[in-house]
Amino acid sequence: MNIVESEKDIRSLLTQYRDQHRIALVPTMGCLHEGHASLIRKAGELADVVVVSVYVNPLQFGPHEDLSAYPRTPEADKEACETLGVDVMFHPGNLYVSGWPNITLHASALSDVLCGATRPGHFDGVVTVVNILFNIVQPDIAVFGEKDWQQIAIIRRMVRDLHIQMEIEGCETVREPDGLTMSSRNRYLSAEERKRAVTLHTCLQKIREKIKEGEMECGKLLNIAGDDLKIAKIDPEYLTIRDPATFSEITRITNRPARAFIAATIGKARLIDNIALETS
Ligand code: PAJ
Repeated sequence: MNIVESEKDIRSLLTQYRDQHRIALVPTMGCLHEGHASLIRKAGELADVVVVSVYVNPLQFGPHEDLSAYPRTPEADKEACETLGVDVMFHPGNLYVSGWPNITLHASALSDVLCGATRPGHFDGVVTVVNILFNIVQPDIAVFGEKDWQQIAIIRRMVRDLHIQMEIEGCETVREPDGLTMSSRNRYLSAEERKRAVTLHTCLQKIREKIKEGEMECGKLLNIAGDDLKIAKIDPEYLTIRDPATFSEITRITNRPARAFIAATIGKARLIDNIALETS
């Protein structure tokens, strides 16, 4: 595995592959877990050369968020990438010319709702860094996780709106055995908080079950899920049922696609989850 820290080195390393090989990029902020591993495996199935970037992007953290506390595990990340057969690990020091960018991208209206409502500028930071990574690596394909459903929807939109010639592939959410989504931020949870955190998943599952039993009113479904959160002493930032593509709110489950989304802070960890809601 090649470990590369500078833009110049990764550009020259990838030149040899560009004509004959498909290059896949998996952008990450490190502290790699099974969720990231599933993206890396998928990238390996879809391309000849797998590049994993590890960069904790300061531009996507708000002033009161966990940038300095964000877990950094470079040695374990290297080992994980090696084991997973990654070809190139890109570990840049700073991606912003002169320390901070003058020109950034502004994400579409898709970024005003859900996580964007309480994290102003977050998705601008994400699309700016992802665009920089796409420009440096110039991959044929990039793989993202559906755990961050809004993120992948916005990135797909960026690729379309900016005419970037590449494919975006989504990967299903990887969960702990009890259903909690795997996340680098789970390590902030105390044992007691970890027990309560699973309610983010179980309350979404309950919405799905109630739909199967015939309850189609979203208001009622959300109240039922909200009761479970109350019992677990979780005050959600949002709990909502939306169109998975436009994020417009849905009031009644029909045969149109619908998805339930939740975000909540438990202790020091801000956690998110989402699931598809089928009618059959
Ligand atoms: P990070 O949180 O490290 O996540 C990197 C990728 O792994 C994202 O595409 C995310 O959706 C995916 N991922 C994380 N947990 C997952 C899980 N449990 N199951 C499936 N996929 C999972 O997302 C970011 O970093 C950053 O915003 C980034 C895109 C790298 C830009 O800085």
